[in-house]
Amino acid sequence: MTSGGDAPGMNPAVRAVVRAGIYYGCDVFAVYEGYTGLVEGGDLLKKMGWEDVRSYLSEGGTNIGTARCKEFRQREGRLTAAYNMVINGIDALIVCGGDGSLTGADLFRSEWPSLIEELVSSGKLTTKEVEPYKNLTIVGLVGSIDNDMSSTDATIGAFSSLERISEMVDYIDATAKSHSRAFVVEVMGRHCGWLGLMSGLSTGADFIFIPERPPKAGKWQDDLKKVCSRHRNKGKRKTTVIVAEGAIDDELNPITSEDVKKVLVDLGLDTRITTLGHVQRGGTAVAYDRMLATLQGVEAVRAVLETTPDTPSPMIGILENKIVRQPLVEAVKLTKSVADAIESKNFNKAMNLRDSSFEE
Ligand code: F6P
Repeated sequence: MTSGGDAPGMNPAVRAVVRAGIYYGCDVFAVYEGYTGLVEGGDLLKKMGWEDVRSYLSEGGTNIGTARCKEFRQREGRLTAAYNMVINGIDALIVCGGDGSLTGADLFRSEWPSLIEELVSSGKLTTKEVEPYKNLTIVGLVGSIDNDMSSTDATIGAFSSLERISEMVDYIDATAKSHSRAFVVEVMGRHCGWLGLMSGLSTGADFIFIPERPPKAGKWQDDLKKVCSRHRNKGKRKTTVIVAEGAIDDELNPITSEDVKKVLVDLGLDTRITTLGHVQRGGTAVAYDRMLATLQGVEAVRAVLETTPDTPSPMIGILENKIVRQPLVEAVKLTKSVADAIESKNFNKAMNLRDSSFEE
């Protein structure tokens, strides 16, 4: 299943899971439209063959669809999902999505025995029918352009998005230089500044705003002016400022592209704003994401086969170039603690947590 916002590399992940599953002797189903597919069942649960995922490696988005499913948030929806899984003979779920989708999956796993019990007590299924489905195995693959998950160096899709942003900023640079203009480029990333920081580094931006390193409220305007003037005085004909969508100052006030533009205009620069939007999520995956998705997809299937009811649900990550299994719940908890640290203005802690999660 792919769930949450799509990310380049999700199709390669599906391809790897389907083919590794078949290789290891499993019956593999694609769940279409995220959790909606589990709740609605029927045609949205499709048994996959080797050929069904042909050409997935080089296709962007997710061919099996993704959705935000309100029904699955309710116990009633999860009960129907459990029923649909059992009648199709499904006892394991590999979810490729962001932290919300993976948390939902782990909750489903912990609730599973009571859902099965209810299906029997309500007469929907017999004790014999549920016998092989006492436990549900969950494995998480992190698919998100934001690179916002702890305990892994890279999420599937982040490097493709970074590539896309860098390419777009190069295009913008050409016109900026021609007109001697300033551009404020707003990039995605939700509460995480990875895309902003790395695209700024990759394109030599003059200034970068990210949530994890908020500048001083009321003071950043002067700092921005100083830096941009210094660069202009050195003969630079363009000014590029990257603003991550979650950018804030140290009083937690949002810093918007409009705020930044005003400062640059005040400096006398002819300024335009470019919000890159969903082009950052589109297009095919770069080679790194195809490789990551493939290696992780195979590892996810192995994890399904090796996980016992006592093992915590694993999330497949990559640390120092090695594909690893991490406890899913812990990784989500660490990810949330970065957001909490930012919210309580403990910015050093937020930075340390991001760093330490890379090191773990
Ligand atoms: O999580 C991926 C992401 O693209 C974020 O960077 C962004 O904040 C959000 O999804 C946009 O969501 P939507 O596609 O629903 O507008």
